[in-house]
Amino acid sequence: MTIQKIGVVGSGIMGAGVAEVAAASGADVIVRTRSRERTEAVLAQVASSLRRQVERATRSEGEAAAILGRVHASEQFTELAQCQLVIETVVEDLAVKRELFRHIDEVVPPDTIIASCTSTLPIIDLAAEVSFPERVCGVHFFNPVPSMALVEVVRTLVTSDATLEAVRAFVRRCAKEPVDVADRAGFIVNALLFPYLNNAIRLFESGVATKEGIDVAMKGGCGFPMGPFTLLDLVGLDTSLAILEALYGEYGEPNYAPAPLLRRLVSAGRLGRKTGAGFYDYAAR
Ligand SMILES: NC(=O)c1ccc[n+]([C@@H]2O[C@H](COP(=O)([O-])OP(=O)(O)OC[C@H]3O[C@@H](n4cnc5c(N)ncnc54)[C@H](O)[C@@H]3O)[C@@H](O)[C@H]2O)c1
Repeated sequence: MTIQKIGVVGSGIMGAGVAEVAAASGADVIVRTRSRERTEAVLAQVASSLRRQVERATRSEGEAAAILGRVHASEQFTELAQCQLVIETVVEDLAVKRELFRHIDEVVPPDTIIASCTSTLPIIDLAAEVSFPERVCGVHFFNPVPSMALVEVVRTLVTSDATLEAVRAFVRRCAKEPVDVADRAGFIVNALLFPYLNNAIRLFESGVATKEGIDVAMKGGCGFPMGPFTLLDLVGLDTSLAILEALYGEYGEPNYAPAPLLRRLVSAGRLGRKTGAGFYDYAAR
């Protein structure tokens, strides 16, 4: 199957990123949003990311304009009907994603592949909502999508080989490396990464070091490109909390039990970079 038209459902950090790389792969992209403001915001986000690449001379102006020209946004679900692949990128909430899968299933033809960008939720629970569950898999891109090389391709107990083959080919066209993984909370990367991030919060809470000190230590001592608090703010604290809850729910291991401070920050609406404040303040920077 050749994937020429791609639907993206959700217009947040990941929706904009996936729309951009899919369009850069040569596909036409339609992003389904919930409002006119989100439609404008997602196009502005893609434009701004492409502008930064032109400024850094990693793309020509012509390429950036062509990519942007292939991204469209709409509030209508029916626009997804022509897509060979629909990628869901909405909030990390199983009930919301399930409902969306039902809506997508109502409008797409039976050979459309439906994939979720979830970080941790069971893909099989989403597959159970649609008429052709063998056409459902996970396609876990990383943030920021344009610069991260990996995509975890998640196979459920019923995903077909043809679905996985088509999705791997799409991922390669996006200039990313697909890695196969089974349908388990956290897949590979988050199952290993989140105990570390969670323990960094606990270390800070216990007064061992400041968050700035922990960030400096993990960069300088481990060669990581950014420290844990900078990374948590980039991922989004609501998303991070949902990931830890899903991991804890699946495995019951204390390392996955979300640190209390993470919950408090989410309750306070400090969700990280996307809201201008998380562990750090961004408005003041
Ligand atoms: N942020 C990351 O680093 C990252 C990385 C990989 C995967 N993911 C996954 O991608 C998905 C989206 O994460 P994000 O960081 O883009 O989040 P985000 O908060 O930036 O965007 C969430 C999107 O969901 C939409 N949404 C919220 N509630 C909704 C509802 N009730 N119905 C329909 N849409 C709703 C919002 O309008 C927005 O478009 C999540 O499943 C997350 O786990 C996130």
